[in-house]
Amino acid sequence: MQPTDLPRGVTGAAAASPAGGTLRPVVRTVRGTPTSDGAGVKLTRVIGGQALPDLDPFLLFDEFRSDRAGDYIAGFPDHPHRGFETVTYMLAGRMRHRDNQGNSGLLTAGSVQWMTAGRGIVHSEMPEQEDGLMWGFQLWVNLPARDKLTAPRYQDIEPARVPTLRVAPGVAVRLLAGEFGGQSGPVAGITGTQPLYADLQLETGARAELPVPATHNAFAYVYEGAARIGGSAKATARGELAQLGAGDRVLVEADGGRARLVLVAGRPLGEPVARYGPFVMNTREEIMQAFADFQAGRF
Ligand code: FE2
Repeated sequence: MQPTDLPRGVTGAAAASPAGGTLRPVVRTVRGTPTSDGAGVKLTRVIGGQALPDLDPFLLFDEFRSDRAGDYIAGFPDHPHRGFETVTYMLAGRMRHRDNQGNSGLLTAGSVQWMTAGRGIVHSEMPEQEDGLMWGFQLWVNLPARDKLTAPRYQDIEPARVPTLRVAPGVAVRLLAGEFGGQSGPVAGITGTQPLYADLQLETGARAELPVPATHNAFAYVYEGAARIGGSAKATARGELAQLGAGDRVLVEADGGRARLVLVAGRPLGEPVARYGPFVMNTREEIMQAFADFQAGRF
């Protein structure tokens, strides 16, 4: 099939892919809500707010982007986490991470930190800059019940360790986690949700089809320009999340210029979620235990 023969306007229905398999349609488009968190950091909450409370196994997805220091300078002082993973991907700026076990790391543009909070950490995430652009994303990934009390683990990945794949003319993919065509991202050992996390850059007019495991829930978030996803006639604009339906491939096409987006997928856990602020467990009793352990200094 020639590119001009690609299915159009298939939103809400799966379509055959010219490369075989089934294209994932866009089943829903969600725009984030401006909010603030930490000590007053302004951000846009795309997953974890009223519009989209969660997308199993993803509990939260925030974009932070500002060149006004007042929007980010207060940072995220000491706070706990238990029962899930926080993933920070930086596009611009510098963020210092410190925890109560003596771990410290600097997140710079292009780097990713995959932090498995497991049974508990107390940490801070503070800007290491007083002006200029701070831009990136934080994703929360749930842990299966069996791993919720695992030992905390950090994967601090510097930009040079993230491979850039040229998957089609005018399409560059920075692969943070998961696999594309025999290549693997540097984030490893996330066995419960087997995540895929890719940062896509499409030049004007470019298009690509990317494999995404059929077992996974998936979304795309456009952070620059606009893109048509899944053969949809309607473009997904900057600041919009496209929730993807069933299928094993994702078609992305730049719309009206250059487009940049992240593509994220994970195996859903299908387990009960008991959630209170920075604690995400399976039952209310486990949440109470998390509070008790945190207050007793057992994190
Ligand atoms: Fe945190």
